[in-house]
Amino acid sequence: MILTTKTAEETIKLGTAIGQLLQPGDILALQGTLAAGKTQLTKGIAEGLGISEPVTSPTFTIISEYYGRMPLYHIDVYRLGSPEDFLDLGVDDMLYGQGVCVIEWSEKIMSELPSRTILIHIEAQPDSRRTLTITNWQYSADTLVQYEAVS
Ligand SMILES: Nc1ncnc2c1ncn2[C@@H]1O[C@H](COP(=O)(O)OP(=O)(O)O)[C@@H](O)[C@H]1O
Ligand SMILES: [Mg+2]
Repeated sequence: MILTTKTAEETIKLGTAIGQLLQPGDILALQGTLAAGKTQLTKGIAEGLGISEPVTSPTFTIISEYYGRMPLYHIDVYRLGSPEDFLDLGVDDMLYGQGVCVIEWSEKIMSELPSRTILIHIEAQPDSRRTLTITNWQYSADTLVQYEAVS
């Protein structure tokens, strides 16, 4: 599924639509370069999970936890050196628990994620548009198709 957004606000709204559909145990691997929009999308996902607390980038804290209709574990692995460092954080309880994991810079640790992981690759276009390629999506696309890319 390939979607596009024109503004950061649209990316947040798309995230909200995604967040509303997520279920306990879901893992979202976000990929894309700096400022692609991974954190903006996560802000929306949090909203869709019923989290009212503002979401900030976990680049320095590595893991932030929020509580809505289920826990959200917002993880940023940018500063980690290796996939082993990821496991050393004690993420197993999060990956195989009853919350949702959203992982920024997941390119670095894909080998450690289960096969059910939903992959969202965000690519910044020369203007403020973003192309989001979603693979392994398990739920309805009905509320997402309004963002479908037109070629
Ligand atoms: N369509 C868009 N979607 C998401 N962010 C956008 C978009 N257009 C512009 N932006 C801007 O790009 C930046 C994305 O930042 P952020 O989400 O923190 O990126 P990342 O977490 O991928 O490093 C923000 O400053 C945001 O306002
Ligand atoms: Mg970020």
